Amino acid sequence: MAPRRLSETPIVIVGAGAAGLSAALALAPQPVIVITKTPSLTSGSTPWAQGGIAAALAADDSACLHHSDTLEAGADLCDPTTSQMLTEDGPRTIARLLTLGMPFDRADDGRLAMAREAAHSRARVVHAGGDSTGKALAETLIAQVEATPSIQVMTATTVVDLALDGAPDQRLRGLLVHGPQGWQMIAADAVVLASGGMGMAWQETTNPAENTGDGLAMAARAQVLLADLEFMQFHPTALRVADSSGARLPLLTEALRGAGALLLDGQGQRFMVGEHPLAELAPRDVVARAVGLRQAAGEDIFLDLRPALAREGAAHFPQVLESCHAHGLDPSLGPVPIAPAAHYHMGGVVTDPRGRTSLPGLWACGEVACTGVHGANRLASNSLLEALVFGDRVASDIVLALADGRLPPRPGPRMQTLPQVADPAACAEITATLRQIMSRHVGLIRDHQGLTTAADALADLSARFDALPKAAASVETVRPWAETRALLTVAPLVVQAALQRQESRGAHARLDYPERRADHRQRVTLRLGDPATPAQIAPLPGDTLPLPTRSLL
Ligand code: SIN
Repeated sequence: MAPRRLSETPIVIVGAGAAGLSAALALAPQPVIVITKTPSLTSGSTPWAQGGIAAALAADDSACLHHSDTLEAGADLCDPTTSQMLTEDGPRTIARLLTLGMPFDRADDGRLAMAREAAHSRARVVHAGGDSTGKALAETLIAQVEATPSIQVMTATTVVDLALDGAPDQRLRGLLVHGPQGWQMIAADAVVLASGGMGMAWQETTNPAENTGDGLAMAARAQVLLADLEFMQFHPTALRVADSSGARLPLLTEALRGAGALLLDGQGQRFMVGEHPLAELAPRDVVARAVGLRQAAGEDIFLDLRPALAREGAAHFPQVLESCHAHGLDPSLGPVPIAPAAHYHMGGVVTDPRGRTSLPGLWACGEVACTGVHGANRLASNSLLEALVFGDRVASDIVLALADGRLPPRPGPRMQTLPQVADPAACAEITATLRQIMSRHVGLIRDHQGLTTAADALADLSARFDALPKAAASVETVRPWAETRALLTVAPLVVQAALQRQESRGAHARLDYPERRADHRQRVTLRLGDPATPAQIAPLPGDTLPLPTRSLL
């Protein structure tokens, strides 16, 4: 069956989080279509973000200090050029949000309230509504988008594939999507992937259900260059709930520990004091591993929120308290159970500083992109900033490309054969198994044996997926089928990159290679199905930093 109709627009943005909406606003008055598979524009990780936005605004701070903290947290693997751009654009980005009406929290003197978070050398994180910064940011951007006539929004619409010209001069021509109108080919001169992360590849995650690596998988299938896929950041303190039925685990923000919350073992004793000089405020990867190792040994771990609630007041943590109460827990009465959970993917589609990918016509920004700013370990509260800064940079580059004729109008995509979708219940079962495999073998601590076991199990799972009984395409069937297909595309690539990185660095820890290795201070890049370069180590651009070696375990 052929797609129902062709529609044409020069610019299409896939994803409606901070990166996608920020790019759409910066592109106005250029006509743009924003596509999201969720029923409304409230989508992706942005509305759930409890941390704030980092920016060097204080008198004792500078972009240079913020940059050096970012490099340090990144375990010596950041791209110094893009991370410098990020930190230099911080103050301008906050100023832009203020003009859009973002209700940042204020200190008593009326100035922006600035908090210090783990691994930041200065107080430079601004919040809105305490732990509700992401929600306030999403609401601010959505209000602007709804008031911008040049932005057209397609909700409940799943982007299934990028449509390409054939070799030798491969170029993007548009997208194959499925939504309430059925199948549709959308011609586009420029496509921006802003489709978020892939936290749903793990059983325990802070990510919403829509974070299934769709954009990364689409780019992979189009042979676009990817990098740093082995680096998934696990947050140490998600709320461990009795039966999450595979849904996201509520986050207990790091700001709680910043305000004095304590990590306790099953005997009610603090254990981080003996693990790291900064105790509860040690880097996120160190705390997550300390919690995860104890849990793997059968111990329950808890967070005592009471010191933080006493110091900052309950009004500072509305989302945290709502989540606890929703699960029948009262943190004012005693410690609550926690678990580490997949939180943020540092790797993704390789972009240059303008957000261009290796495929002409395709840009990427936000969590799906790998700009290199986060290296092996993202500094807290740098992700919303990255989404906003690079969403804006992508928009500027597209405007320039349109103005100088680098995006000549081209014929719309050819009609293509439509994929056959599978039964949603069977897809859900495959997804659940994939998430178990990833949590068991590709989690906080990895080794060769576990990774090869995961690779084999994922290959078997893919074969099962291909053989599933087919179902008629509908809004109810296409999205779950496309999400399972995406997870089955990206999870083996994470395993491949993790096997390739034979060292421990940042969020990637290997039992069989516990040391950080100077000869691995390089980026693992790969292209799907490229037999000549299954996973390559590529030098970092602007490579001028020292090469310290230390053990992370
Ligand atoms: C948190 O609030 O702990 C998360 C912040 C972040 O991921 O940057």
